Amino acid sequence: MEFPEGVTIIPLSKEYLKKAIKLVESVFTDEEDSVRREIEASVYEKKFEKYITKIDRHTKSLEYFIAVDPKGRLMGIIGIYTLIENYKDTLWIGWYCVDKKHRRRGVGKLLLDFSITKARERNKSYICLYTSTDRNEEEAQDIYDKYGFYVTEIVHKDGYNILFRKKTL
Ligand SMILES: CC(C)(COP(=O)(O)OP(=O)(O)OC[C@H]1O[C@@H](n2cnc3c(N)ncnc32)[C@H](O)[C@@H]1OP(=O)(O)O)[C@@H](O)C(=O)NCCC(=O)NCCS
Repeated sequence: MEFPEGVTIIPLSKEYLKKAIKLVESVFTDEEDSVRREIEASVYEKKFEKYITKIDRHTKSLEYFIAVDPKGRLMGIIGIYTLIENYKDTLWIGWYCVDKKHRRRGVGKLLLDFSITKARERNKSYICLYTSTDRNEEEAQDIYDKYGFYVTEIVHKDGYNILFRKKTL
């Protein structure tokens, strides 16, 4: 695998907001407004207040980080968030994806490593996520298995399963 030379990971800013939403919506289709609402809430304080009071009362914090190439092009994104019920020991990963044209070059690993480092720096004991057996998310299962995110729960849906995965740090 080619090492993703020159790729940097930076916090999502207003400058990249539209592109980030477009990327996530192109990968996770059928999500209606939830992608936009969550990503915007991570950048605008007022939207975050609305989000945690009206949309998802479980969220405690919400941040996104993006991988950009040396020319400043967006390559991938990862969300890290905490929930009120377990924020002390658990960091959650959300809307994690790499643009199709930049896959298989190590950018996904870079983003995942970055999140694991953040979780350790913040003294978390676990890093959790939910994913699915949907074809779109198939490639991620291999990387999650390799990184030791074990399946803690399977929820059966119409034609696919939702998998809850957890890694002990
Ligand atoms: C999962 C995803 C982020 C990986 O991004 P990426 O930049 O291609 O990942 P990397 O190049 O760093 O590869 C990391 C590992 O992923 C696995 N992987 C990536 N693409 C794969 C493929 N097509 N088939 C099988 N495994 C694959 C491999 O384990 C690879 O490690 P290896 O190169 O040592 O074999 C990307 O495939 C993606 O955006 N998928 C769609 C969205 C998604 O499923 N997100 C997670 C949902 S919760």
